[in-house]
Amino acid sequence: MNTLTSPLGPFDGDPYAQIISSLRERGYIILNHVFPTAMLESLFIDIKQTDREAFHDAGIGREQEHQLNPFVRRDRIHWLSNTYENTTEYFNWMEQLRIRLNRELYLGLFDYECHYAHYPQGAFYKKHLDAFQGNTIRRLTTILYLNPAWQPQDGGELVMYAHDGETILETVQPTFGILVIFLSEEFPHEVLPANVSRYSLTGWFRINNSTGLNLDPPE
Ligand code: OGA
Ligand code: MN
Repeated sequence: MNTLTSPLGPFDGDPYAQIISSLRERGYIILNHVFPTAMLESLFIDIKQTDREAFHDAGIGREQEHQLNPFVRRDRIHWLSNTYENTTEYFNWMEQLRIRLNRELYLGLFDYECHYAHYPQGAFYKKHLDAFQGNTIRRLTTILYLNPAWQPQDGGELVMYAHDGETILETVQPTFGILVIFLSEEFPHEVLPANVSRYSLTGWFRINNSTGLNLDPPE
């Protein structure tokens, strides 16, 4: 049997089984330290390194609708490729999760896209849903926090709302090693202003929406 000693206690057992049962029961899960410390530390070193070289301002919407809107979000992002060697272990873990989710929950997940995100001091992301309007290819959101020594006064909480967009379900501090997973179309959420730099690795499992020659997701 796998047990969580508390909702945010140290993880013990088969994380995939725990994720599947929580998604089935309530559509989301918050896990603490499901990845080995060495892996989290190397992701942290890599995100800081990448931040200096390759981050750009995040936009909203897809393709033609893509636009920068500093009133909605102020984070800076860097998309990751599954051939990037510094995140291989992370991608492998997500691929195993994808297979288990498809086998046990029949989610039909086709692939996984993810980016590093940096919220500089004062940055936020207003309440939103991750599945783009008129487009339902994002089915499951994952967020891994990479902030050693995060303090309550640092702000930057993820607030998750029920489907009504008003009832608060969870307020999550972006503490090192916390992994949040939720059904992308079910939970409006926002990031409150961060008082210090805030780092995360955010990703989405997608279904394949291709019809005929119209490739979606685009290559
Ligand atoms: C997002 C997002 C939440 C977080 O990137 O879509 O909602 O806590 N991120 O970083
Ligand atoms: Mn989001």
